[in-house]
Amino acid sequence: MNTKNLRGWFWPMLCLFLVLSFSCADEESKKYSIGFAQTGFNDEWRKAMNQSMQIQTNFYPNVKLTILDGEDNVEKQIQDIEQLIEKGVDILIVSPVKSQPITPIVEKAYKSGIPVLIVDRKIEGQYYTAYLGGDNYQVGSNVGNYLASISNEPKNIIEIKGLSGSSPALERSLGFNNIVKKAGKLNVVKTIESNWESYSIEDSLKNALEDIKDVDYIFAHNDRMALGAWEIAKEKGLQDSIGFIGVDGLPGPNGGIQLVEEKVLLATILYPTGGDEAIRLAMKILNGEKVPKNNILSTTVIDSRNAEIMKNQFDKIIQHQIDIENQQNKIKQQQETYSTQTTILKLLLGLLITSILLGTYAIYSSYNLKKKKRELELQNKRITIQRNQIRKIAEEVKKSNEAKVNFFTGLSHEFKTPITLILSSIESLSENKVLRDSKLLREVALIFNNSKRLLRLINQLLDFRKIEDRKFILKASETNLFEFSNLIFKDFEREALKRNINFSIKSNNEDLKVFIDRNLMDKVYFNLLSNAFKFTPNNGSISIEIVDEFETNFVKIHFKDSGIGIPNSELNNVFKAFYQGSNNNKSSSGIGLHLSKEFVELHKGSIEVQSKHGTEFIITLYKGNAHLSTEEIVYEPDIIDDSILNFDEDFEEETFSKEKIGNEDERYSILLIEDNPDLVKYLKGKLGLEYQVYFSDGSDGVEKAIELVPDIIICDVNLADISGFEICKTLKNDLRTSHIPNIILTSLNNKESYIQGLQSGADLYLTKPFSYAILLQSVKSLLYNREKLRYYYVNNVYKLDTEHNFGLFEQDFITNINKYINENLDNSNFSVEQLADKLNISRVQLYRKMKAILGVNISDYIQNIRLEKAKALLDESTLTISEIAYATGFSSPNYFSTSFKNKYNMSPKVYRDKH
Ligand code: FRU
Repeated sequence: MNTKNLRGWFWPMLCLFLVLSFSCADEESKKYSIGFAQTGFNDEWRKAMNQSMQIQTNFYPNVKLTILDGEDNVEKQIQDIEQLIEKGVDILIVSPVKSQPITPIVEKAYKSGIPVLIVDRKIEGQYYTAYLGGDNYQVGSNVGNYLASISNEPKNIIEIKGLSGSSPALERSLGFNNIVKKAGKLNVVKTIESNWESYSIEDSLKNALEDIKDVDYIFAHNDRMALGAWEIAKEKGLQDSIGFIGVDGLPGPNGGIQLVEEKVLLATILYPTGGDEAIRLAMKILNGEKVPKNNILSTTVIDSRNAEIMKNQFDKIIQHQIDIENQQNKIKQQQETYSTQTTILKLLLGLLITSILLGTYAIYSSYNLKKKKRELELQNKRITIQRNQIRKIAEEVKKSNEAKVNFFTGLSHEFKTPITLILSSIESLSENKVLRDSKLLREVALIFNNSKRLLRLINQLLDFRKIEDRKFILKASETNLFEFSNLIFKDFEREALKRNINFSIKSNNEDLKVFIDRNLMDKVYFNLLSNAFKFTPNNGSISIEIVDEFETNFVKIHFKDSGIGIPNSELNNVFKAFYQGSNNNKSSSGIGLHLSKEFVELHKGSIEVQSKHGTEFIITLYKGNAHLSTEEIVYEPDIIDDSILNFDEDFEEETFSKEKIGNEDERYSILLIEDNPDLVKYLKGKLGLEYQVYFSDGSDGVEKAIELVPDIIICDVNLADISGFEICKTLKNDLRTSHIPNIILTSLNNKESYIQGLQSGADLYLTKPFSYAILLQSVKSLLYNREKLRYYYVNNVYKLDTEHNFGLFEQDFITNINKYINENLDNSNFSVEQLADKLNISRVQLYRKMKAILGVNISDYIQNIRLEKAKALLDESTLTISEIAYATGFSSPNYFSTSFKNKYNMSPKVYRDKH
């Protein structure tokens, strides 16, 4: 059974139990109600009647008896009966004050369905269930017969009647008078009316006794009035001459039996109250038993002969009654205890059953919960297995995806070298005079441009991967934005011209410099302009406008075209990867704009798009470099026009017209340390046009550098036996080669390698694929800078002791040379060999090193110092010219004069005279 079913039967069961408990309680609490409209409560007879009724009622625990006091008043009794009817008693007992006035209300009760038992006094008619009472006619007859039996001669009798209108008074009088008449010797001399109480006869009896002198007997209809009569007679001294007879025969003080015993009364007629009988009869009626209409109680005469016996009998009865009452009280107590215990028991039983039901429910619930839990656990396990399977599949998919991406990335990398070589080869081809003269050049230009496009696409793919992996590190250098933009502008000018597109560039601040990663921003510009040209029809317009927002920290670059535009609903999507616009019928990878946005955002800038009569892309960049971290800022020389070969249909022949310049000796020398034979061949070919190129595959790179002391070294990193970084470091730490500019040329395009390169002392870090033009320009710049340095050096040769404008090695080197020369200034035998010895290098190395860093011959340098010193002595001292000549190491005054004149265009003597 599941929880739902259990709940289905549990709650009805509990309710049933509670209903049954209550219904049992109801059955027990349902009692018969007996209502008794009593005549009055004042006399002993009525009290005795009430008591015996109560005692009898107590035998029936489910019967409640209500007795109302009619106060011997008809109206009050009618009210009482009404009240009992209204209360809905189960049976009504009435002892009517009078017969006739009480009859209607009794009839009403009877007719409303309430059984009615009339007791003691009667009503008129038949509308009642039963009657119970003593035989009052018999009572009267008994009195008559008794008096007749004790009278031998005629006797005068006064009869005191009960209340007129009540049946006992009527019937007793009738029974008595009938006997009196028959007896003959008895004579009722006076009949007095009463209300059953002695005070009501006081006057009438006194008067009668005044009037009638020979009264023998007084018959009062009850003992109370008989006693009252005796007392009145006693007042007149007649109590012994008159015999008194009463009715009721009650036991106890002033009761009829005691009065007989005390000889106050001659006799009393027993008139039983019938209280207990009345209750028994009522119960029979209530239980539906058939009962006789008239239930008559027997009566008897009590006089001096049986008074004692009767008293004893009654005493016993009374004692019995007391015992019964005590028993009943005990029973009542026990019943109450029983009832309390029963209630408690029921409650306990109820609780027990509830507990059992709840317990059962709990057990079922926990069983079901366990079952549910087991099911859930099972389900959970299934889900976990499925999840693990999904995870595994996802991992496999991820791995396979990664493998694919890695494959494509690797492949793209692989593509780069051949494409670079293709481009290089085309450059070489372009130098071929035969080709330049032929029509094949057009085809070559086509190959070149498409190779470039291919290279750009591959680069985009690689960039996308890098962006995805968050591997891009900004390398922003301070750049003139207009010049930068203008260079790219120039790349597109030819196409604009060809298609009659109004292509323009302007800026409100052509001097504005911003920090940009030129490589990345170049890609952004190229992408935006390519798109603009792609979607702008011939004769349209495209513009680049740089707006320096002077009051703010921003500059905006607008790329506007009059092309087909982008539907508004798609504007939000154009920067998403692989998105293809609905009106874009041209082939595209869908990552160009995505990359552009990523690149601009790497600059902490933003890019937005608007489309209204064409499309406008607006790049917003920060001015200054506060928004960049120090590692994002790099130094790059000012922009140079580094446009590499740019074939077009309008091929520019002069692009390739390059001749070898200068003679071998005057040319600068380059040592190329590279192990890729193709690249070596290519670079040797290209650089060889202008420079003396030496080559090493890396194995003897350091040795060759020391031996040759070239003007510049271009070094790859990943060499067979040694890392390019190590070569660079070694050379930079060697006095003989430390001055040589070193260009690292590598495919390692990451931050760590870049830093490593710089740490090794490299002067420039170029990544493959490289633009030959950039490489060439870099070589030129470095040589030019070296030249500038040399110029400065030569002109500040005496300040070098205190200033640090060179590398540490060069600084020490020059300082040492100067020191040794000065120490030997007056020594005409001090030679270059001696100086080289002191510096611990060979004469040739000294010669080359001096040539490299100062551009002068070491002998000239020594001579120069001697002459400078001599000039100073001519200015400041009083020494003779001969003395000065020897003091500055010249072997003879003549040689000094000749040398001085050569340098300063005047003889020492003329110089001294002039100054
Ligand atoms: C009591 C009483 C008795 C008498 C009876 C008649 O109220 O007066 O003394 O016998 O009523 O109904």
